Amino acid sequence: MTILYGGDYNPEQWPEDTWQDDWDKLKLAKVNSATINVFSWALLEPREGQFSFDKLDRIVKLLEDNNIKIVMATSTGALPNWMTRKYPEVTRVDTYGIRQIGGKRENACPNSPMFQHLSNELVEKIAKRYSNVKNITHWHISNEYGGYCYCDNCAVAFRKWLKKEYNNDLNEVNTAWGTNVWSHTYNSWNEINPPMKIGDVSEDGKPVLSGLDLAYRRFQSDSLLNNFKKERDIIRKYDDRPITTNLMGTQKDLDYFKWAKEMDIVSWDNYPAFDTPAGLTAMEHDLMRGLKQKPFMLMEQTPNQTNWQVINRLKAPNQMRMYSYQAMAHGADTIQFFQLKQARNGSEKFHSALISHSNSTDTRTFKELEQLGNELQSLPTDIVDSTNNSEVGIIFDWNNYWGLEDATGPIKQDYVQQVYDYYKEFYDRHIGVDMISKETDFKKYKLIIAPNMYINSESLTKRIEYYVSDGGVFVTNYMSGIVDKDDNVSLGGYPGLLRKVMGIKIDETDALPDDVQNQLIFKDKNIGSGSLLCDLIQPDTATSLAHYGKNVFYTDYSALTKNEFGKGTAYYAGSRLDKTAINYFLTDILQRTQIKSDSNNIGVEMIQRESSNNKFEFIINTDSKEKVINNPYPQTNDLLTHQQIGEEIHLSGYDVLILQIKK
Ligand code: GLA
Ligand code: ZN
Repeated sequence: MTILYGGDYNPEQWPEDTWQDDWDKLKLAKVNSATINVFSWALLEPREGQFSFDKLDRIVKLLEDNNIKIVMATSTGALPNWMTRKYPEVTRVDTYGIRQIGGKRENACPNSPMFQHLSNELVEKIAKRYSNVKNITHWHISNEYGGYCYCDNCAVAFRKWLKKEYNNDLNEVNTAWGTNVWSHTYNSWNEINPPMKIGDVSEDGKPVLSGLDLAYRRFQSDSLLNNFKKERDIIRKYDDRPITTNLMGTQKDLDYFKWAKEMDIVSWDNYPAFDTPAGLTAMEHDLMRGLKQKPFMLMEQTPNQTNWQVINRLKAPNQMRMYSYQAMAHGADTIQFFQLKQARNGSEKFHSALISHSNSTDTRTFKELEQLGNELQSLPTDIVDSTNNSEVGIIFDWNNYWGLEDATGPIKQDYVQQVYDYYKEFYDRHIGVDMISKETDFKKYKLIIAPNMYINSESLTKRIEYYVSDGGVFVTNYMSGIVDKDDNVSLGGYPGLLRKVMGIKIDETDALPDDVQNQLIFKDKNIGSGSLLCDLIQPDTATSLAHYGKNVFYTDYSALTKNEFGKGTAYYAGSRLDKTAINYFLTDILQRTQIKSDSNNIGVEMIQRESSNNKFEFIINTDSKEKVINNPYPQTNDLLTHQQIGEEIHLSGYDVLILQIKK
């Protein structure tokens, strides 16, 4: 299999007599793929029911003539003006009840029957017409799904969705959401409104009925997923090739684990800002791989600067190449960009591209792209589809993400950052991690971390108990096990149903101002501190590993615990641990699990992918500074320089090596 190297191509923004020149240039960089037809609805259907595929036919022919593979999009991510004018219901209504008038993109109401009808009609035509194009490798549905709509059509569809979820029983809804609070009881389904700021949600985004809000988030994610599924099924009637849509890492709106089940392959768009830690990007790649536990496509990144971030810094020499191999190390089998040719107009004209405004191949960026293109072509073919095997799983869950955001009190939390607190520790120790869903088979992991597992259920509790009693090591922390799926608190003390396996009970949790940290005392010695929240832990069967320092009234309570449970161990951290504390805490856990850890060479990633014949060790300097490290596999071959590497590896800023280890 070839590694797709290319990206979004929008020739419709350019005179046709410039098109071939694009490819004369792009082929110098060994570009072999183009993603087309992402936003062309107004061209394909200039008036309702009048279709015109001439231009798209010519674009397809251009690519075929140049022997370029095609990722064919469906163009349903932006609406033509005739449609928003004639059928205002296709646009979204915002949280203040204001109907949008059209424009922008990725903003169709997912529950508009008219949008569904018109988009499906278009997709049917595209699928039928282009399913015989040999160069198509993938289908790309819509673009970066997300966002919410609160229109009447959505309200109607929501009530229907609720009836299914709650056995057609309004009492069940009232009970599940605790509607007696503030006189919110529903006496008819029609009284249920979407949670809006002109309704049940406060100006700062907090819902009164968090059960309602959680349900609405699930419903909107499902609604967009239905749009995806409808388009997918239409394409599938004509074509067997893989169908995807481009996801966005830790983006909040959609339950990507649920989405991935419906996608043939995961693809995603990676846009780290200049100050995004490399480890956070690594975590997002691992999450995207984790969605299907399979390699994925890097559908978009930018060769140089973006235009939409607050500060759009240039990428330093070799930084784009570094990001590309970082993606590959974590499971990407394609390297694709937004976009192949920089726009002259519109809001993205300052967004970089392979061919820049200078229209020259003699640019710093293009030369780096050329180098990368040549290197990708020379990689052994079994690197594609090779696997990442990890002993550690970190649970990521969109419902927890939403639930923690919806909760009013005890403190504002950043779910992604708190998951990253743990991920980073493994990353710095060069320990591969799988980002997993709560439904994953836990058995294959020696260690599972479930940060802020706010929402819990009886069945999940059972699976955790079974995993630990069978010898697994499980770590969780504050704000875990607090509520059920409808945001009802689990009574009897925190962490609710997890009390037994954790061997602890918590009655109270303190919330700390930003500038306050509580010292953590491990065996009379202060090692690091906790911030954000502090659970006042009462160990039951658990042993206490640390307690809080003397500056608080709850110094007698435990801050960190460890519970032997069957053949395994369950650890609980009652506070947001700083670097020193988390390091100390995990050292014990890693010893217990005998997971190989190496905290030398922070800033250099070492990640392994494996095929049936080879191991590929990616060694990546994610930093601009030079590094010298010991070679974990001396006398092996670097696939990028084709040289044997000795005992030491000298990495210049952003340098990368891929060592091939024959099995
Ligand atoms: C997103 C979109 C693209 C483009 C890029 C710019 O990922 O999918 O169409 O707007 O951002 O960074
Ligand atoms: Zn709507």
